[in-house]
Amino acid sequence: MSQIVSPSLLSANFGNLQEDLKMINSSNADWLHIDIMDGVFVPNLSFGPPVLKYVAELCEKPLDVHLMVVNPMSYLPAVKELNARIMNIHYEACTHLHRAVTQIKDAGMMAGVTLNPSTPVCLLKDIIQELDLVLLMSVNPGFGGQKFIPHTVNKVRELREMIDAAGSKAIIEVDGGVNVETAKLLVEAGSDALVAGNAVFKDANPHAIIDALRGM
Ligand code: DX5
Ligand code: ZN
Repeated sequence: MSQIVSPSLLSANFGNLQEDLKMINSSNADWLHIDIMDGVFVPNLSFGPPVLKYVAELCEKPLDVHLMVVNPMSYLPAVKELNARIMNIHYEACTHLHRAVTQIKDAGMMAGVTLNPSTPVCLLKDIIQELDLVLLMSVNPGFGGQKFIPHTVNKVRELREMIDAAGSKAIIEVDGGVNVETAKLLVEAGSDALVAGNAVFKDANPHAIIDALRGM
């Protein structure tokens, strides 16, 4: 089965975003992954609404927004303003997850819930029916270019079983350290979508990497 591929803007050349966005537009990438960080939920900052306004204008691919912030729902209007396809919020940052997921869907976006590497898949059991997507972190969030955590493959397998048993339509997306080698393991375990930052943007032939990941 082919994979949805979502290159991560975090690894793009911030000195010339326009050129990298042209590369994405002319590629077969399915989505563009946008990492928003607040320096509190994760020990790093990325980009905010003023920069993303231009990214959204220039990018012809649907935006897959990943919020690594302590109060993700306060950003709902800003994410909607970007015309994002998907809004991913962290399980660890949401006390009232059911309410948050409902609000994201009511705003016309796909609702994604993200799990940190140490957060077990079983915690999604009572909400899996409501979700459009589950984003499994295969690195500790905050930085691009980190090493893939192999246990994620077991989490993909467990989540696949949970989704199939519940008859949920949730997409399984994986984020962090994804390259052609690690993707092979994820696809075998049942992933649907792959985020790739360094593997795409630091390669001499990003279009070929995107095609290779899509065709897995
Ligand atoms: C990490 C981000 C990722 C990151 C992935 O916190 O959520 O989306 O950009 O980068 P790579 O693919 O280089 O690990
Ligand atoms: Zn991400």
